[in-house]
Amino acid sequence: MSIISIITAVDEKNAIGKKQQLLWNLPYDMQRFKGATTGHAVVMGRRTFESLPKGALPKRKNVVLTTLPPESFVDVFVCNSMQDALELCEKEDEIFMIGGAMVYKSALDIADKLYLTRVHHVFEDADIFFPEINFDQWEEIERDAHPADEKHAYSYTFHTYLRKRE
Ligand SMILES: NC(=O)c1ccc[n+]([C@@H]2O[C@H](COP(=O)([O-])OP(=O)(O)OC[C@H]3O[C@@H](n4cnc5c(N)ncnc54)[C@H](OP(=O)(O)O)[C@@H]3O)[C@@H](O)[C@H]2O)c1
Repeated sequence: MSIISIITAVDEKNAIGKKQQLLWNLPYDMQRFKGATTGHAVVMGRRTFESLPKGALPKRKNVVLTTLPPESFVDVFVCNSMQDALELCEKEDEIFMIGGAMVYKSALDIADKLYLTRVHHVFEDADIFFPEINFDQWEEIERDAHPADEKHAYSYTFHTYLRKRE
């Protein structure tokens, strides 16, 4: 059985983007994302795929969710439902749901693990948000705080949660 993980970065009000782009540039968070996802499957929505500057992410099985015909995409697997994406990735040890909001919404109830970077700022002009998280359902297993510095305009904290099981 694969582990289904969500990986996201959110501001203090759960904002994740603006005008189809990210709200910040935090190189160490990008490094964490790369380290966590490399060698695994990444499942993303069509809009997130289109926002990637260099297209498919290297050294990962890229799966794009869309209702558009698969011929419109190169270098990625295309699925038209979350169920199809999960079946396509069933041999993977860990499947990362990498956004955006629509995909996070479908994944939040089925995910086993949540890698959440909290960016300690409120972006008033954000236009897209991570769905509300019920933290009663999640147990924090790691936390790693980082101050702002010359390369990171905002302080941020890496949190890792596992879904609580009965
Ligand atoms: N901060 C973060 O961690 C983070 C991570 C990723 C993305 N983002 C941001 O999030 C924003 C994009 O999020 P979004 O919600 O607008 O778009 P999205 O989730 O990336 O893409 C939405 C599209 O994906 C397809 N889709 C999603 N779920 C589907 C399903 N179950 N079955 C079939 N198709 C499905 C549909 O494509 P069709 O319309 O083609 O049918 C839908 O219009 C951007 O601003 C991006 O920068 C932030």
